[in-house]
Amino acid sequence: MATYVELNTKAKMPILGLGTWQSRLEKAKDAVKFAIDVGYRLLDCAYMYQNESEIGDAIQEKIKEGAVTREDLFIITSPDPSGIWCCWSKSNPGLLPHQSSVLVCQLLLQHLCLRVAGEELFPIGENGMMIPSDTDFLETWEAMEDLVDAGLVKAIGIANFNTNQIEQLLSKPDLKYKPANNQIESHPYLPQEELIKYCQSKGISVTAYCPLGSPQWPWPKPEDFSLLDDPQIKEIAAKHKKTSAQVVIRFQVQRNVSVIPKSVTPHHIEENLKVFDFELTEKEMKTILSFKKRHRISSITLCKNHKDYPFPEELD
Ligand SMILES: NC(=O)c1ccc[n+]([C@@H]2O[C@H](COP(=O)([O-])OP(=O)(O)OC[C@H]3O[C@@H](n4cnc5c(N)ncnc54)[C@H](OP(=O)(O)O)[C@@H]3O)[C@@H](O)[C@H]2O)c1
Repeated sequence: MATYVELNTKAKMPILGLGTWQSRLEKAKDAVKFAIDVGYRLLDCAYMYQNESEIGDAIQEKIKEGAVTREDLFIITSPDPSGIWCCWSKSNPGLLPHQSSVLVCQLLLQHLCLRVAGEELFPIGENGMMIPSDTDFLETWEAMEDLVDAGLVKAIGIANFNTNQIEQLLSKPDLKYKPANNQIESHPYLPQEELIKYCQSKGISVTAYCPLGSPQWPWPKPEDFSLLDDPQIKEIAAKHKKTSAQVVIRFQVQRNVSVIPKSVTPHHIEENLKVFDFELTEKEMKTILSFKKRHRISSITLCKNHKDYPFPEELD
């Protein structure tokens, strides 16, 4: 079982990395340092997580110590969620200040430009919904391509794009670079088989976010949503003498989907990495894929009326 996925740029991206959303400042710094020490080489960051400076500092400390080189690390980041344009404006420099700490990233993701550019991360209008952006995501992609040409990023990808939106991107007449990765929510209650197969058939690798069911998700989830306590997952875990977290991480690895569980807790960080010494059987994979319970955690309902709102009602 490969411990990396090969991108369409030929770069090898570790198949398992550390998520950093909701990792607060010093905790984020300590978590990243610990993760590097125990062997993580992939870090998933984002401007909107507001901890890129601390993560950059952690990386620099580890490089100075000689624990890793910059080339050993694969860093994913995404700019301001309203799109890359505002990253370049003087009033909202977005990604630029972080380049000194995070250095050149390997994979820059474009989120759909769902909200208007501005100082606020979540600008809410009078109707209680996010103030929408009218940015065309195909134009944003051109700006992303310029970043590759300028040598600031090694690969560009997308996040939360649906099949139709990927089709639009791939059929852009002057497309220079295909997306290298689509980062989407996926876990046993949202396996996303169709979308993953579609992406992989087009040479677009997939990364699963919220792989553990995001236990700390700050917005309401159904009361019975407790992925790590699911009896069938616990049963499979017990058979392999593993934890539920390890089973749901391994589930993605076996589909050649990279996976970025977030943790600031040292024993979780270590536990989540120990998924390369066991294998789920075909029957176990099928069981997990056939769970009746379906739920999308990250439905971004505040943007539901947006022209590019990506999520279909049906959960595959
Ligand atoms: N592109 C996007 O739109 C998008 C959206 C959401 C997330 N993401 C990325 O995906 C990453 C992962 O998603 P997520 O953070 O929402 O959820 P997640 O990784 O599914 O779950 C993280 C939660 O699980 C806990 N945890 C970690 N390991 C555990 C273990 N072994 N046993 C029990 N609990 C454990 C963590 O607590 P401790 O910290 O205490 O361990 C944390 O509360 C994010 O951090 C972010 O990098 C991307």
